[in-house]
Amino acid sequence: MSPLNSLVLILYSFSLFFLLAVARKEFVVESSDEEPQHYHTLKLSSFLPSSMCNPSTKGDKKRGSLEVVHKHGPCSKFSKDMLTVEEIQTQDQSRVDSLRARLTINTGKHNTLDSKTTLPAKSGITIGSGNYFVTVGLGTPKKDLSLVFDTGSDLTWTQCEPCEVSCYSQQEPIFAPSMSTTYTNISCTSTECSWLTSATGYLPSCVSSTCAYAIQYGDRSFSLGYFGKDKLTITSEDTINDFYFGCGQDNEGLFRGVAGLLGLGQDKLSLLSQAASKHGKVFSYCLPSQSSSVGYLTLGNDGTASNAKYTPFSTVGNSLYGLELLAMYVAGTKLTISPTVFKTSGMIIDSGTVITRLPPTAYSALRDKFREGMSEYPLTNPLDIFDTCYDLSNFQTIRFPKIGVLWGGNTYVDVPASGTFYVNGISQVCLAFTSNGDDSNIGIWGNTQQKTQVIVYDVGARKIGFASGGCA
Ligand SMILES: *[C@@H]1O[C@H](CO)[C@@H](O)[C@H](O)[C@H]1NC(C)=O
Repeated sequence: MSPLNSLVLILYSFSLFFLLAVARKEFVVESSDEEPQHYHTLKLSSFLPSSMCNPSTKGDKKRGSLEVVHKHGPCSKFSKDMLTVEEIQTQDQSRVDSLRARLTINTGKHNTLDSKTTLPAKSGITIGSGNYFVTVGLGTPKKDLSLVFDTGSDLTWTQCEPCEVSCYSQQEPIFAPSMSTTYTNISCTSTECSWLTSATGYLPSCVSSTCAYAIQYGDRSFSLGYFGKDKLTITSEDTINDFYFGCGQDNEGLFRGVAGLLGLGQDKLSLLSQAASKHGKVFSYCLPSQSSSVGYLTLGNDGTASNAKYTPFSTVGNSLYGLELLAMYVAGTKLTISPTVFKTSGMIIDSGTVITRLPPTAYSALRDKFREGMSEYPLTNPLDIFDTCYDLSNFQTIRFPKIGVLWGGNTYVDVPASGTFYVNGISQVCLAFTSNGDDSNIGIWGNTQQKTQVIVYDVGARKIGFASGGCA
């Protein structure tokens, strides 16, 4: 049996898929500047999801940037169906579990780790909940590939011909390394091959002197194959000649038509690190408020987020992005939450988790204060992970309290209006935050709460910036 096949066997034993649909409900919001500072006021009609893609929104086509599109909705070429709340919850949960596993050492403690050498193998993260994709070009001549972008992992991979073991079906033609004049297999003895251990959590193996990688994610989906390099075309003016990536010969799981994954973690093999000599260790993105518009992903600092407010990274271990949460606000009032609550839990920001997870103590304080500010609206049934939902069928506009966050370095940032609610129809509009099971679980700042902001990951300076109004 070839080494690749034994690897396949090992991973087969994990290959239990949760075949869940990944559609998502969306909502639209408009903010009015004339309203009192501590409240947002929106027309209810803006909550109704749009069924048409409107790519020419405020974000414009930014030069030198990649378009960021939601995998589910009118702008997606993969699925026009939006996610249900149950689907979001199931996917978020497996992602949250595996992010936690990445931060956990054998004793079950997390979050004060700063040395990679003390960490166990990473278990990876769920791709199914990655949700946003970009389209890049690979090889010569270049082939377009749509990849989920993910701040929670490092290795970029795509399915590759001849799909020795298995490829799932994808929208674009599968990348054929033999047809690219610039593709090279990486040898087992190269330094880059050894970097796979930290980037994937698995030791690389050797298949007739070609370095082979394996990576597995939280929902048991996985990719394995040859480690190669080729020319990566980000935009027509922006290419990386020797871009290291996984050329997947066995790819299984809930990837839903995308060609693979783009890793934006902090590890040496992430796109961020591989583009660093050209762009510095900086990238930024803006996630659109609804799946009927598009956002963008920019490598390097293009200066457009000059109004960004920065908070220093906190060390959470591994290549994940840690943030320090100091306090939370509702309608300008600071919630009475002991700072030790946030200190104990810690927090990461993640592009793939949909709904922000807070320590239970913090969540209940947030919810209670938010309900006070919403007392004129009738509460209705809870919805899955959401316990604070309103029936707004009898209203034309809604005025709701702003939620604010004080990040480390005393950086105050408002949660965007579009990051406040999950709208399951006008008769069930829910506060889009949820509680962790335990105050000791790490918090996760999810992508719903990041919508419309430019989030700048200045990895070189170890800080993260938030700028409002980056895209529609
Ligand atoms: C890469 O290496 C594998 C294993 O040795 C081999 O089967 C494959 O043909 C090589 N691919 C290319 C494009 O050289």
